[in-house]
Amino acid sequence: MCGIIGYTGWREAYPVILKGLKRLEYRGYDSAGVALQNGNLKVYKKAGKVAELENNVIGKDVHSYIGIGHTRWATHGEPCDRNAHPHLSQSGELAMIHNGIIENYVQLKQELVKKGYTFKSDTDTEVLLNFIEEVKKESGCLLEEAVRIALRRVVGAYCILLIHRDDPETIIAARKGSPLVIGIGKGEHFLASDASPIIEYTKEVVYVNDYEIAIVKPDELVLKNLGNDKQTPFITKLNMELAAIEKGGYEHFMLKEIFEQPNTIYDCLRGRLDANVPNIVMSGIDKYAQQIMNAPRIIIVACGTSWHAGLIAEYIIEETCRIPVEVEYASEFRYRNPVVNKGDVIIAVSQSGETADTLVAIENAKEKGAIILGIVNVVGSSIARVSHAGAYTHAGPEIGVASTKAFTAQLAVLTMVALKIGHAKGSLSIERFQALCKELADIPEKVELVLQQNEAIKALAKKYKDARDFLYLGRGYNFPVALEGALKLKEITYIHAEGYAAAEMKHGPIALVDENLPVVFVATKDAYHEKIVSNMQEIKARKGKIIAIITEGDAVIPTLADDVIAVPAADEIVAPMLSVIPLQLLAYYIGIAKDLDVDKPRNLAKSVTVE
Ligand code: F6R
Repeated sequence: MCGIIGYTGWREAYPVILKGLKRLEYRGYDSAGVALQNGNLKVYKKAGKVAELENNVIGKDVHSYIGIGHTRWATHGEPCDRNAHPHLSQSGELAMIHNGIIENYVQLKQELVKKGYTFKSDTDTEVLLNFIEEVKKESGCLLEEAVRIALRRVVGAYCILLIHRDDPETIIAARKGSPLVIGIGKGEHFLASDASPIIEYTKEVVYVNDYEIAIVKPDELVLKNLGNDKQTPFITKLNMELAAIEKGGYEHFMLKEIFEQPNTIYDCLRGRLDANVPNIVMSGIDKYAQQIMNAPRIIIVACGTSWHAGLIAEYIIEETCRIPVEVEYASEFRYRNPVVNKGDVIIAVSQSGETADTLVAIENAKEKGAIILGIVNVVGSSIARVSHAGAYTHAGPEIGVASTKAFTAQLAVLTMVALKIGHAKGSLSIERFQALCKELADIPEKVELVLQQNEAIKALAKKYKDARDFLYLGRGYNFPVALEGALKLKEITYIHAEGYAAAEMKHGPIALVDENLPVVFVATKDAYHEKIVSNMQEIKARKGKIIAIITEGDAVIPTLADDVIAVPAADEIVAPMLSVIPLQLLAYYIGIAKDLDVDKPRNLAKSVTVE
């Protein structure tokens, strides 16, 4: 949510920043802007995507060895040129970009207005910037000191980068609740919201912690806390290749990421699952295995697609471990007054590891004595660092805004956790453990087979692209898959879609069914198969159009459905990793048929770092 980048060193800053903004654009694309310094501050900014900024800057003076850039997901103030970042302070001495939300900006603004400040934008960022300027003016201190004093008054989340008109070398950065990585080069430094704009220059990075301020020059990086004590930067080596963040011949990141799933699931299982022994080794989880086994209950907190993975995990954990599981929207969990006791296990599921609600939810639960496990994709992210332990999903960078490969990797990890604990606890028989380990190990190959249905799904997309609404139905393990299918369709195609538990459909949504409503049944063979066939009859009787995701060899459903996509047979516990793939492709191809920007759907952003 908002991408920020900064550069100070010996290269021309603008090309580095522009390229970085393109890599970060998935975090928000309402506007983009850059501030450069060459004797004075030059700010170029434009509503719309980074390409608009690039076109707008052609022919302008961009010479500078220092700069900051921003791609925005609007919070305060509509997306327009005026509200785009960077902002200039009233005196014109400072330029700043910001990712986050300043909650007490109204109060700060009132104080500044009384002192004669006027504002050009509607943003909280411009308020914070002028507040820093005012502190600096009043106390006559250095900029880093003014930032420190000002931030002590700030309520909210921020990652800010500032440059000064008279300083051709220094970027001042600070974070609380919004991510910041600093790349360390030779005579140069790179600052960014994530490592994607940095990896082509250096693999040595420092993840800045909350309440830290970085004073960054080409040859020097100083980290301090808000109390002005120096902190030792902890240098980490990035384990990521440039190819992982490029499209590699695919037309869109989303399609590339859908097709990567045989590999990403394999990578996730590799080194952990040995189906021959059988055995599951997960070092993070192993350390807490006893506590998890004895936990009175497990609470899974997550948002969006990750929440859907949590719902499937609820079914799997209850089945295999016989431990009660609750699945909570992180945004609700953090604000109500949930009962969390010492010994409860909280599992946070997050692709980005930066989702603000999930992060705060686990921070609160940690204070209450719960054990926090993070199932996270982005290595070194905030949720990973706050968690006591956990397991990375190893899906590689997910750039498409709609989550695909991260979801199946989350399922793979959560299934391994459940099988491991169920086996250790004895609630899962040896035979069943063995069978499920084998089922899990076979998934990458089966996903490969599902992907071979690509052309058939493309044809389906053309057939149904003009529908106004869709209903997605599933039972058991496939109920959350139906929710996920509906979410994918909504976000990529802007078609209204609802996911429902198939049997619940009779209690209201059936009123929507007529000959114009496509109903997608996620109906692979499982314990409820006959029941979902009955639900299908109910839709057919009302002339709804039925698209069914079925198991290969199913002879019944093809006689009822208008269209079927078959996936290989698999145990119901692991089947969601197969049944979701056609739904991802269906959403993708309907988006393409409607000529939409599937990698950057309107109003969305990857990594929701504001609440
Ligand atoms: C949907 C999607 C979102 C995210 C949600 C949580 O395709 O990507 O619903 O799943 O914003 O994000 P993470 O997993 O990063 O916490």
